Amino acid sequence: MIIVLANSKGGVGKTSISVHLATWLAEQGHSVVLADCDAQQSSSEWLAEAAPEIRTVRLADPSAILDSLPQLDQEADFVVADGPGSNTETSRALLLRADLALVPCKASMLEVRALAQATAVLRQSQDIRQGRPEAVIVLSMVGKTYRLTQDMKDAAAALGLPLTKAALTLKQIYADAPGQGTVVWRMGARGRDAAQEIESLFREVLPHAIRPKKLRPLAVLKSFRK
Ligand SMILES: Nc1ncnc2c1ncn2[C@@H]1O[C@H](COP(=O)(O)OP(=O)(O)OP(=O)(O)O)[C@@H](O)[C@H]1O
Ligand SMILES: [Mg+2]
Repeated sequence: MIIVLANSKGGVGKTSISVHLATWLAEQGHSVVLADCDAQQSSSEWLAEAAPEIRTVRLADPSAILDSLPQLDQEADFVVADGPGSNTETSRALLLRADLALVPCKASMLEVRALAQATAVLRQSQDIRQGRPEAVIVLSMVGKTYRLTQDMKDAAAALGLPLTKAALTLKQIYADAPGQGTVVWRMGARGRDAAQEIESLFREVLPHAIRPKKLRPLAVLKSFRK
């Protein structure tokens, strides 16, 4: 399955979500490739520190993306592709190959309004590919006092894009994670709330990716004693 983080608006959380998602999927026991399709290469550099066991591939241009993604999809359970903040042709190539597009969007009316433009390439792809990739909006950097207004729901509905129930709130810990080369659920008590919300998001959008935790030896012993 190829999952792309897509929003041609910059700084909305694509790289942060892609690194966390790749790490979470690997922790569920899946084989994962991170395709870093942004010239800034921040997701591959971050993941090399956070989860060096995960394979990363840098795909520089649209042609390489179109050519390489099907093969990578064969080689791994999940390909997580981090898209660029602006390059339309790169986004187009990703969306022409993706199975699922996660569209992070900051939670403000201005940002939601700008989504029509930022998702134009997504709609072209869905038009060409009979509705594919499936796409959902993920609200990111949500402020403490934020309420999901009817206006925002309407704007998303007008684009034909569902909003995930789980949203990511604005938290310093997300901004600290790349500097520490890690993910929020490995940052101790400070990261607990962020860990919970981002795991809820992944469970909501990829329920089939959840693998049951293995029984710990102690639990097995106890069940024998009964
Ligand atoms: N939930 C959050 N709370 C606070 N800061 C965040 C959150 N998510 C991301 N950030 C920070 O906001 C900045 C932009 O996030 P990120 O790099 O993930 O976005 P992006 O969409 O990949 O940007 P670009 O389009 O430039 O590639 C980064 O400094 C990141 O650490
Ligand atoms: Mg990025």
